[in-house]
Amino acid sequence: MRPRVYIHSWAPEDVLSDLGRDYAVDCYDTSANPPLSAEAFGERLAGAVAVMIHTSTLDGDMIAANAETLKVIASIAVGTDHIDVAAATRHGILVTNTSGVLTEAVADFAIGMVLAVGRRIAEADRFTRAGHFQGNNFGLYWGGEVNGETLGIVGMGRIGQATARRARGFGMKLIYHNRNPVADSIADEVGATWRPLEDLLGQSRYVILLTPLTPETHHLIDESRLRLMRSDAYLINVSRGPVVHEAALLAALQAGRLAGAALDVYENEPALADGLAALENVVLTPHVASADVATRHNMLRLAATNLKAALAGEPVPNPVNRVG
Ligand code: DGY
Repeated sequence: MRPRVYIHSWAPEDVLSDLGRDYAVDCYDTSANPPLSAEAFGERLAGAVAVMIHTSTLDGDMIAANAETLKVIASIAVGTDHIDVAAATRHGILVTNTSGVLTEAVADFAIGMVLAVGRRIAEADRFTRAGHFQGNNFGLYWGGEVNGETLGIVGMGRIGQATARRARGFGMKLIYHNRNPVADSIADEVGATWRPLEDLLGQSRYVILLTPLTPETHHLIDESRLRLMRSDAYLINVSRGPVVHEAALLAALQAGRLAGAALDVYENEPALADGLAALENVVLTPHVASADVATRHNMLRLAATNLKAALAGEPVPNPVNRVG
């Protein structure tokens, strides 16, 4: 009997047929079907040697329950905060991600969020759709300037660097915060200067969060840090929801202590903090920063490449942990 691989995601035909040559592939298309209950998910996972998941949770208990058979968890995402990587490592299960293939797509989206919230594109779209456009009114939708403004990037990994390169094209001044400053050659090339987080928050007109979610970055942007931001500043989160204390952000926006926010991710996805959606100066998208057509296909292909290499005992392009 061929070993079983479970794909808990949409997957393109080429990936399904490629994996199907060596494995019995079970695919639950999460894009076209309702979410599975934890029990149903557990039943499909049982007996699989490898699983591909997007950002669904794979916690320590699920990993332990499948540790006898499961060899590989291939995340179809760059983030792996939804997976208990420490538990996987303890059980000798390799975890992989899709870092690299979504860098440019997420950077495009981050800049899109700057423009959408700063220049009030989403608000103006709602106004026009609602039939309120009665003529070219000079006073309509004056927004925040972009050219010449300071952009603070929190998290200067590959996506942060790609975002910085784009922002330079918009004539923005760039500062960044990273736990460790990047090499001078990278900072020079992207034109960004390191600042302590508190300084970055106080100086930036736009703050983009691009940091992974870890115990250290959980609620990195909390009430006290929000209070450091300028009242004409915009907060943009395309990393992970829990990096921001969402209730504190909501309170800051409601009190007018910030000009606006653009969020692709939420603290308790898919739920939004009560009252967030009622705010006009907030752009809300459903965790789609990497969702351009080619990137989505490439994420699946890279996850499958990681999975096949790991099962074949070959070098794995994107390992997250070390096992065996
Ligand atoms: C990622 O790659 O981590 C994205 O959030 C997936 O949607």
